[in-house]
Amino acid sequence: MLRQLEQIRLEALDELDGIGELRELETWRVRHLGKKSKLTQALRSLAALPLEQRKLAGSRANEIKLSLRSRLDEKKRALEEACLASSLRQEKLDVTLPGRPVCIGRLHPVTQALEEICNIFKNMGFQVLEGPDVEWDYYNFEALNIPPDHPARDMFATLWIDPEAAQKARLLRTHTSPMQIRIMEKNGPPIRAIVPGRAYRYEATDATHESMFYQIEGLAVDKGITLADLKGTLFEFCRCLFGEERKVRFRCDYFPFVEPGAEVAVECLACHGAGCRLCGYNGWIEILGAGMVHPDVLKRGDIDPEAYTGFAFGLGVERIPMLRYGIDDIRLFYGNDLRFLKQF
Ligand code: PHE
Repeated sequence: MLRQLEQIRLEALDELDGIGELRELETWRVRHLGKKSKLTQALRSLAALPLEQRKLAGSRANEIKLSLRSRLDEKKRALEEACLASSLRQEKLDVTLPGRPVCIGRLHPVTQALEEICNIFKNMGFQVLEGPDVEWDYYNFEALNIPPDHPARDMFATLWIDPEAAQKARLLRTHTSPMQIRIMEKNGPPIRAIVPGRAYRYEATDATHESMFYQIEGLAVDKGITLADLKGTLFEFCRCLFGEERKVRFRCDYFPFVEPGAEVAVECLACHGAGCRLCGYNGWIEILGAGMVHPDVLKRGDIDPEAYTGFAFGLGVERIPMLRYGIDDIRLFYGNDLRFLKQF
């Protein structure tokens, strides 16, 4: 019996020596220490032996069992260490490598321009108000001196909400000017407000036209406001936005809701006045329409034109980043191409 036990022991150890992988250890344990192992069977068969022999063989068998267990643990520890050492050797971590770039979001270039422009006017004491994109014909046209059939309606190709309705028709506002009337109706003078917002036109898009774009409307109404106030405000605005050097042009223009009317253009940044695609080859880019609020418009806003005067302007927002960065196609802003947007 003792010889048999010794053989079991040697066989198990021999096999253990040959193991080089951690996962093989469990198979070894089941084979040599498990319920069906030769050792366990030998222990069971002890019962048949005479007492003296049983004692001797029994204690030897238990010794072997314990020693095999501890050899198994040793082997396990050794293999684990070797495994760790080899992975440390192979998977070297270079802490000096530069990190992977993380993409962070940013504000859209048009949003940036809106914020910047609003800040300039806020610093001049204007309040910022907003109005509805879906407007009544009355606010968008009628109240602004553009009755049905007025030729000025052709300036504003309109997207109608309910094209069938004869009166009180709704539309997508073609400019932010309807807010002039809403502000006058609601607030009354003195008024100094700007209105950032979207405007819509039913037009084929091209490099300088989009069917949706942003405008900022300005309105000031008080006693004694003159054209000089309008000019001073707009020139100061251009100076803040483009710097001292940039040439600014102030010319007559026509809008039914102002009298007199004006337009402001700045020298094209892309070509410095030489003419290019961005400025339509004339060296100037018109950035806003303006004028003194027409007396009839004041009246519709419940303001007495004998006592009060005012000025208004409407600014095309996309024009600003286009000018500044030499972007020659307005459609890039709304194409959602990240390669374009990430540059700002
Ligand atoms: N609403 C005009 C436009 O969209 C601009 C404008 C606003 C002109 C205010 C004069 C006064 O073209």
